[in-house]
Amino acid sequence: MPFAPIPVSTQDIVTYLTNKCGTEVSTMHLQEASEHFDCSLSTVKKRLKIYKHSIGKWDLTIQEAREKLEKTVQKQNLIPEVNNSFVKFGNYNDIRKIIQSDMFYPTFVTGLSGNGKTFSIEQACAQLGKELIRVNITIETDEDDLIGGFRLVDGSTIWHNGPVIEALERGAILLLDEIDLASNKILCLQSVLEGNGVFLKKIGKYVRPSRGFNVFATANTKGKGSDDGRFIGTNVLNEAFLERFPVTFEQEYPSASVEKKILISECSDDKFVSHLVDWAGIIRKTFYDGGIDELISTRRLVHIIRAYSIFNDKAKAIKVCLNRFDDETKQSFMELYDKVDAEVDISDKDEVSNQELLNQINS
Ligand SMILES: Nc1ncnc2c1ncn2[C@@H]1O[C@H](COP(=O)(O)OP(=O)(O)O)[C@@H](O)[C@H]1O
Ligand SMILES: [Mg+2]
Repeated sequence: MPFAPIPVSTQDIVTYLTNKCGTEVSTMHLQEASEHFDCSLSTVKKRLKIYKHSIGKWDLTIQEAREKLEKTVQKQNLIPEVNNSFVKFGNYNDIRKIIQSDMFYPTFVTGLSGNGKTFSIEQACAQLGKELIRVNITIETDEDDLIGGFRLVDGSTIWHNGPVIEALERGAILLLDEIDLASNKILCLQSVLEGNGVFLKKIGKYVRPSRGFNVFATANTKGKGSDDGRFIGTNVLNEAFLERFPVTFEQEYPSASVEKKILISECSDDKFVSHLVDWAGIIRKTFYDGGIDELISTRRLVHIIRAYSIFNDKAKAIKVCLNRFDDETKQSFMELYDKVDAEVDISDKDEVSNQELLNQINS
């Protein structure tokens, strides 16, 4: 029975060549290695890509290759791009001041989904030319994802810095996005949140925070969980962990005039924008009064505006963006839109409607 050949590793080739020809090798030596390992010259070249230092020349000193790797990582620019559609509002100025101060001052930003928490931190960094490393936290996030671990690279295990170490060393802003989805494994960041840096026990190295390093966390809750089922998947964060954040900002949805500005930058139909903002406002009010469990976020309004620019059909744009809600909610939202905007008729009145919600909205 024929056997599939075992692919030759970078480490095998490096060991063979170093023993036979030293650490400075040329194409001729690579050809020899390809014959020895019974593989193509291009496979050998591919494996040794990281060691290439000029045409037809390879330097097999591991240290140098690692340095090269590190240099390419350092060269990456992690400053977010300025987005011209961003409109400053709410806590933006305070967030910007904290970043500008270069102080270590862990900051918690809480608020309902899709109201610009992540965007405002990103844009504050963009405006200030500050590097930002964002980690999307999930229940699965662990020490390896945050701090780092060993990775298999071309047959060798090499230490790989996680985003927290990168941010510490660069003096960047570390954004722990949606932190209330985390499990207790997030507690590995306790010493980082105390401003002390972290000891990498697997490689015996202590990483101190560089000047300018700071942590921001965003969440839909305040880390105390949610009993009403609105925030499925959110967890109660450890009290000592929350204590490490000296300040918490509460992010509200933008005011109607700010929200109009946000939407106008995507669509020039003033009337449609006004109607959408009024509609979302009424729905949010009903939500705050406990009348409904769902609401329309700024993010969803932007989605509707974009759907409108694609389909050029207001009713369709609203419909496709409401499809994610259950039938009853969707129907009620559409009927309400009909009331707000006399020119558009989207709801099929014959379908089941949530009379209770409508009554509340009417009153
Ligand atoms: N200040 C703003 N200016 C412009 N667009 C905004 C602003 N705030 C929110 N948005 C829109 O809403 C979307 C969701 O914002 P995001 O920051 O991701 O929400 P959150 O992090 O609060 O869930 C953004 O991608 C953007 O389209
Ligand atoms: Mg976010």
